[in-house]
Amino acid sequence: MIRLTDKEFMDIVTYIKSNYGINLTNKRQLIESRMQTVLVEKGFKSFTDYFELVKQNKSDEITAMLNKLTTNHTYFYREPAHFEFLKNTILPRQEKINSRRDIRIWSAGCSSGEEAYTAIMTMMDYFGLKRTSWDFRILATDISLKAMEAATHGLYGAESLKDIPKVWEQRYFINRGENLFELKEEVRNQVFFKRLNLMEPFSFRQQFDLIFCRNVMIYFDQPTKNALINKFYEVLKPGGYLFIGHSETVQRDTSKFLYVEPSVYQKGLS
Ligand SMILES: C[S@@+](CC[C@H](N)C(=O)[O-])C[C@H]1O[C@@H](n2cnc3c(N)ncnc32)[C@H](O)[C@@H]1O
Repeated sequence: MIRLTDKEFMDIVTYIKSNYGINLTNKRQLIESRMQTVLVEKGFKSFTDYFELVKQNKSDEITAMLNKLTTNHTYFYREPAHFEFLKNTILPRQEKINSRRDIRIWSAGCSSGEEAYTAIMTMMDYFGLKRTSWDFRILATDISLKAMEAATHGLYGAESLKDIPKVWEQRYFINRGENLFELKEEVRNQVFFKRLNLMEPFSFRQQFDLIFCRNVMIYFDQPTKNALINKFYEVLKPGGYLFIGHSETVQRDTSKFLYVEPSVYQKGLS
């Protein structure tokens, strides 16, 4: 067994925290045990040598490592209250006030895309035949290229569709057999995937009507979460919404967001 020394542990924890916001302070045993097979497979004799590679070859190696230590797990229609809120509150309001008929959504920390695709299906379903007169698109970003690669292929196991309405399965997926379902092109081509590290500065040409950042900040410490939430505030349109995971909260005294209901926040109109 290759041992993880105190210095190696402190170095990698500091590096990951300052570059990716992820707090691995409590994951010493997990790092030592889960990374063993990777070190052996790649022929490394020490964690120092492996971490050097991780730091040099930023995007691929680091996300492979983070994938082993955190979770990318997600599925369609996860936390359905958000999609109900989109359908019952946001879309009717957009119909009333948005004369340009364009809706911009960002799925931040999208993993393999189920959240973004669920939002697209919610909108397609809501607008029905009227949808051709609307321009709704989603930007979906993550640090993990591997997770997003799965999303662009649009092939999903039956398990990840278990919570969607049956009619959606028939309308938006092609059953490819052997428990595999392929998402139809008309849904896939409305989501644009891009690698983006949430710790880096944002530069977007347009502000968003809605941002999903669900089950991503669970690994961040409080100051990192507060700073990120303030960055989201800046890139939302006035009146725009932020959805976070149901087990997460926005601290009211450190952010300008208005509380709407659990895990739903809004940027004020002025
Ligand atoms: C559990 S998944 C959440 C997927 C989806 N939002 C949901 O709620 O089901 C968490 C995702 O956050 C991503 N993530 C973690 N830190 C990140 C960072 N600094 N920048 C961008 N994405 C990050 C991970 O790669 C992972 O895919």
